Amino acid sequence: MGVSLNLRSSLVLVAAFTAVVASTDANLDGFQVKPFKIDLAAEIPRLNSLVANSRLPAKALYPDGGSGERGIELDVLQELRTDWLTNFDWEAQQAELNTFEQFTAVIEGLTVHFVHEKSADPDAIPVILLHGWPSSFQEFLPVIKPLTESWRSPIGKNISFNVVVPSLPGFVFSDPAPPNWTLDDTARIMNTLMVDVLGYSTYALHGTDWGSGVGYAQYGTYNTTVRAAHFVFIPFFPPLAQDIAENNISLSDDEKVSLQRTIDWNATGNNYFLEQAAKPNDVGLALYDSPAGQLAWIGSKFKVWSDPRAGTPPSVLDNTAILTSVSLYYLTDSFLSSVWIYGQNPNAFRVAYTKAPTDAPLLFSQYEYNFGLWPKEFVAKVGNLVSYKFHDFGGHFAGLDNPPAFIQDIRDIGLYFEA
Ligand SMILES: *[C@@H]1O[C@H](CO)[C@@H](O)[C@H](O)[C@H]1NC(C)=O
Ligand SMILES: *[C@@H]1O[C@H](CO)[C@@H](O)[C@H](O)[C@H]1NC(C)=O
Ligand SMILES: *[C@@H]1O[C@H](CO)[C@@H](O)[C@H](O)[C@H]1NC(C)=O
Ligand SMILES: *[C@@H]1O[C@H](CO)[C@@H](O)[C@H](O)[C@H]1NC(C)=O
Ligand SMILES: *[C@@H]1O[C@H](CO)[C@@H](O)[C@H](O)[C@H]1NC(C)=O
Repeated sequence: MGVSLNLRSSLVLVAAFTAVVASTDANLDGFQVKPFKIDLAAEIPRLNSLVANSRLPAKALYPDGGSGERGIELDVLQELRTDWLTNFDWEAQQAELNTFEQFTAVIEGLTVHFVHEKSADPDAIPVILLHGWPSSFQEFLPVIKPLTESWRSPIGKNISFNVVVPSLPGFVFSDPAPPNWTLDDTARIMNTLMVDVLGYSTYALHGTDWGSGVGYAQYGTYNTTVRAAHFVFIPFFPPLAQDIAENNISLSDDEKVSLQRTIDWNATGNNYFLEQAAKPNDVGLALYDSPAGQLAWIGSKFKVWSDPRAGTPPSVLDNTAILTSVSLYYLTDSFLSSVWIYGQNPNAFRVAYTKAPTDAPLLFSQYEYNFGLWPKEFVAKVGNLVSYKFHDFGGHFAGLDNPPAFIQDIRDIGLYFEA
């Protein structure tokens, strides 16, 4: 009797297992989740010797009076390089990065690295924070621990988060993306990470830069699991002055600053985008083994896209943060694969505004010195907009550029999130 019962339940299990295998290609071997610690100290002597042996001109060939209009200024680069060689302490940065709980999982054959910091509150909201280029999970480090702590909201609700910060495929400790991999593929594995690997049946997300393309795809495609989204950037070309005027939108003086940044980016600031999208191997291989070259290329973006007050409170985007970011790219061999996200998704930013098929709340924050301005009326075209905020301090890298404002942005999700 017992034996036949056991046999029957085993058969039921086998049948269920076969049905799952038949219905999905998902990796069923438990995703091989493993704790992860960064240990790249052995690579530092090589990095230091490459930087020390690199040369820069003694003086600027065509000084631009500090405008930076023709690319990173020599004295800015020189200062970063000197800091790298004299003040920067990789081991201290690595120890700081390792204070966060990190893991790897294997999803669809790709090793995916992620931070997972949980709140003590059993009702904490799961949230995934999605970074872009040229940053990494490092962009969100200042906000992770505060978000796990409980915030008593004005409506009397305690709000806290279980925070997940993945490295996108091709970035730092995640495997490079396979050929012809798109943001939709990344969106799928990020949804798998939250739902199947970590067991969160619903969650919220935040996206910026390429992470906004991934997050927006998740928001529209996985509309039963993604139940709120916050963006500081959306994968739609920001409107220019004429579109804004035609829509009868009048801008504040602060918004006009953001509009000018948009115009400048579209005029001359997007050349890296065209290069990386069309010929990713050229810049990717040229700088592959050149930390000093990566410093110029990446450092330029951190300097130009952040608030001009970057590095002064509340911004923590100082030279150390830039050097940590470039060191992470160089030491993990990910400059080339990071650049390929452009090569694989050259048309990811859309001109026509369309609405995602979801009723999940969408929150948006415009940071004044970001290089795109998306007025409220335009953001409302792409989703169920419930909150729109303007911050007059901060730029493209909100988590580093203005951590207190960004923490509040994410906490606001809790006012709308319904599991
Ligand atoms: C939630 O808020 C109440 C009232 O402010 C407080 O007593 C309680 O400790 C909070 N819970 C958590 C988990 O922080
Ligand atoms: C990738 O796409 C290109 C065309 O867009 C195709 O020629 C190539 O075979 C694809 N590669 C793989 C590995 O699927
Ligand atoms: C803008 O205002 C003009 C004049 O009042 C009106 O004709 C036009 O339809 C408005 N456009 C939009 C997009 O609301
Ligand atoms: C960007 O600049 C080009 C000209 O270089 C212009 O045609 C285009 O309308 C601008 N705006 C956007 C949103 O691309
Ligand atoms: C999700 O999308 C489908 C199809 O696009 C739509 O029919 C459905 O109503 C959406 N669900 C939610 C919860 O928004």
